[in-house]
Amino acid sequence: MKLDFEPLDKLTRYKIMSQTVIPRPIAWVVTENNGIVNVAPFSYFMALSSEPPTLLVSVGHKKDGTPKDTLRNTLETGKATICIVPPHLLDKMYSSSEELPSDESEAEKFSIELAREEAQYPPMIKGVDVAYFCDFFQKVEIGGKTIPLIYKIHSVFLNDKIFTDKNRFHIDFEAVGRIGKKFAIEYKVVEK
Ligand SMILES: Cc1cc2nc3c(=O)[nH]c(=O)nc-3n(C[C@H](O)[C@H](O)[C@H](O)COP(=O)(O)O)c2cc1C
Repeated sequence: MKLDFEPLDKLTRYKIMSQTVIPRPIAWVVTENNGIVNVAPFSYFMALSSEPPTLLVSVGHKKDGTPKDTLRNTLETGKATICIVPPHLLDKMYSSSEELPSDESEAEKFSIELAREEAQYPPMIKGVDVAYFCDFFQKVEIGGKTIPLIYKIHSVFLNDKIFTDKNRFHIDFEAVGRIGKKFAIEYKVVEK
């Protein structure tokens, strides 16, 4: 089967891409605006480059057409903390994808515990092994309602436990990935 993408509807495109470009990592993004802490997962997420250290997260709009809170907060405050999801927080991560009004915090509603690690950045989620404290760099225009946001990494939290060799920065830890609508929580790791 060969399909042209242009005539395909939105859902079919999503189904094809989300089940074939796999596994996708999940950015569990914390933003903060007017004292409200916003938490939401995004799997259109990737490391763009380590020099300069940059991450990309594509964020869309709510059902009513207004920007998702993560998009609005990023553009208004210029900051985001991007956490990598450990398996034991999968359910909380999933809950935090619920669309809430901007003045309601997913952290409060779903009892997601937070930890203030960097004074100038949104808090990280307590219990994650890795969190990137980021500054918004620029948005990319791709001509749709989804806006790819590029973030520059200011600092990172790394749980001491994830190092297999701290001197050589060798890390081994588990992170939840996205495969279609499902999740990958165990990877078979092979050496080459
Ligand atoms: C695993 C997972 C991945 C998601 N990936 C994206 C994504 O890449 N882009 C997006 O706009 N929404 C994505 N969503 C939906 C958002 O999490 C959802 O719209 C959320 O309500 C946005 O919250 P906010 O308005 O607080 O930013 C994803 C949801 C889940 C559960």
